[in-house]
Amino acid sequence: MVKLTGLKKIKTAVFISGTGSNLKNLIKFSKIKNSPISVNLIFSNTTKAEGLKFSNQFNIKKYISSFKGSKIAEEKILNLLKKNNIKFICLAGFMKVLSKSFIKKFSGKIVNIHPSLLPKYKGLDTHIKAIQNKDRVAGCTVHFVTAKLDSGKIILQKEVKISKKDNPTSLAKKVLKQEHKLYPASIKKIFS
Ligand code: GRF
Repeated sequence: MVKLTGLKKIKTAVFISGTGSNLKNLIKFSKIKNSPISVNLIFSNTTKAEGLKFSNQFNIKKYISSFKGSKIAEEKILNLLKKNNIKFICLAGFMKVLSKSFIKKFSGKIVNIHPSLLPKYKGLDTHIKAIQNKDRVAGCTVHFVTAKLDSGKIILQKEVKISKKDNPTSLAKKVLKQEHKLYPASIKKIFS
C-alpha cells in the first residue's frame, strides 16, 4: 500500500450507484487537514445516482458509464483514472462487480464498505437477512476488494445492536450512521 509521505494527499476516486451519503461523508473527511486522501473523481454506473449531485456541490469531476462489465467500458474508466492520477478507489454503494483484470490493475488499492459484519451476509439484502434470522447484532465492514465478492481482507468493523423494534429500514439507518464513522477511520488506518 502507498504510504502517505509529506503533505500530498492520495488522489482518490469514489464509485457510487445511489444516494451517496458515504461519498458525501468521504468528501468532507478528505477536506480535513490530516486526511490521507483527496476525492478527485466520482464515478457512477448510472445517471440516476442521487450522489452525483455532490459533484457540482463540491466541484469534483464526475464520470458516468453504464458499464455493464464490458472490457471496453472498463478500459475507458481505467484510462480516466490514469489521466487523473487516481491512486486509490473507494467503493461506496457501488452496485456493479468489477472484473478480475480491473481489480488486478488496482491491486490493494480498492476498498469497499459493506453493511454487515463480514463474512456474514455477503451480497445484497443484509438487513433483511439479519432481521429474518433474529440476529441481536448487525454492523458494517470496510475491506479490501478482491476478485471474490465481499471477501477481501477486513480493515475495520463496527457492531450495531439490533433492538426488538428494528425493521430493515431502521436497522439500515443505524448501520449507515456507523458506516460514516467507519469509512474514514479505515482509510486513516490504511495510510497510517
Ligand atoms: C451503504 O449501506 C453501503 O454499505 C452499501 O450501500 C449503501 C450505500 O449508501 N454498500 P450511500 O449511497 O453511501 O448512502
